[in-house]
Amino acid sequence: MRISVIGLGYLGAVHAASMASLGHEVVGVDVDAARVEALAGGKAPFFEPGFDELLTRVQDTCRLQVTTDVAAVAGARVHFVCVGTPQQVGSLAADLSFVEAAFASVVGQVAPGDVVVGKSTVPVGTAARLAGLVEAAGASLVWNPEFLREGFAVEDTLHPDRIVYGVADGEAGVRAAGVLDEVYAAVLAEQMPRVVTDYPTAELVKVAANSFLATKISFINAMAELCEVAGGDVTRLADAIGHDARIGRRFLNAGLGFGGGCLPKDIRAFMARADELGAPEAVAFLGEVDAINTRRRVRMVELAGQVLGGDVAGRRVVVLGAAFKPDSDDVRDSPALDVAARLGEAGADVVVHDPQAIDNARLKAPELVYESDLEAALSGAEAVLVLTEWRVYKDLDPVRAGSLVGARNVLDGRNALDRESWQAAGWRYRALGRA
Ligand code: UDX
Repeated sequence: MRISVIGLGYLGAVHAASMASLGHEVVGVDVDAARVEALAGGKAPFFEPGFDELLTRVQDTCRLQVTTDVAAVAGARVHFVCVGTPQQVGSLAADLSFVEAAFASVVGQVAPGDVVVGKSTVPVGTAARLAGLVEAAGASLVWNPEFLREGFAVEDTLHPDRIVYGVADGEAGVRAAGVLDEVYAAVLAEQMPRVVTDYPTAELVKVAANSFLATKISFINAMAELCEVAGGDVTRLADAIGHDARIGRRFLNAGLGFGGGCLPKDIRAFMARADELGAPEAVAFLGEVDAINTRRRVRMVELAGQVLGGDVAGRRVVVLGAAFKPDSDDVRDSPALDVAARLGEAGADVVVHDPQAIDNARLKAPELVYESDLEAALSGAEAVLVLTEWRVYKDLDPVRAGSLVGARNVLDGRNALDRESWQAAGWRYRALGRA
């Protein structure tokens, strides 16, 4: 089938290439010429495991075309809108200007019978409003939220654990869902659950899922706060409660908390939208989820101060990790980068290392010092802060690392290191949530 994808960020670029890999003829559109040029040359404009290989495979088939010209979407039968909805400056609410602009331009190109598919994360009520615009052009709207995780974007797109469609009432909705089934035929062949519902439910599924995940992380981090004052070990606690199948161990990793382009802004936008709908109490707890998350960053800075004898000013600190999570070069709302910046503001002599995210981090926090060589970064450090759990940090040899630093203080912000082997190598080990 001929399909178009509007917006070639993490979501759209991976979606476009994945759909081409399924055999569809795909045209991808983005306003960012540099991004389009990179993709046209078969190069991923961001670090995402498996994506370069996917692009190369797809390039050989000539089924993916990318352009800055939205007119190129004409002729496609299904149009996916995958643009971002970042947090508005000075407000908790989502900025819908990219979504509005994408829909305005795509409806100018659609033919009667086409299906426009919204994949962006939007405040509930947006789809119903946009449906009028799409229907006026003779097309149908489906809201099809995306649940991909960075670092697993290709896997999650081609093998999702569920597919959700929000459709219009009646025959039109059934027909539109059928067209989308054709697009996803190869994906649906794996028999994962497919939930067909109304627009508001489909929009809410996405923010509810992200709110639940954020709550799960903040819950365990709240337990970490208690472990710190009561002398417990949050990692053992998480293992123990995680054995209860109703709770589950996944997303109970205590540490520096959540960041990235989704969880933080989605819970804030949800609170803002609930407020507009007159139901602020329903999600007021998300304010606490957000506050617990921020307190972990403050606690990490405090811990660094304690380890360094009370004051970080002038002390050499190495921050390992700038990305918001491993296997990503994304630094949006990165807890690691935030802690590095806070330490810098407190006068510490901070050096930041990351295997992939230094270029993006430099744009976001140009005041910090970056070092791409791990051993050079460690050299002379009086405290080593592991703030993103990249494999390369988990695999660090504590004996070798100990020979490079100025003082053997390690702060495990992700409970990712093997405490015993670091202690055996003479390191003073401190972690969030472990006495
Ligand atoms: C998230 C959702 O998982 C995904 O379904 C949605 O489509 C987009 O938002 P992503 O932002 O890529 O995906 O990252 P995720 O793996 O969810 O991690 C989010 C943050 O939570 C990271 O900063 C991570 O370090 C942190 N985290 C995750 C924890 O602190 N503890 C955990 O146990 C799990």
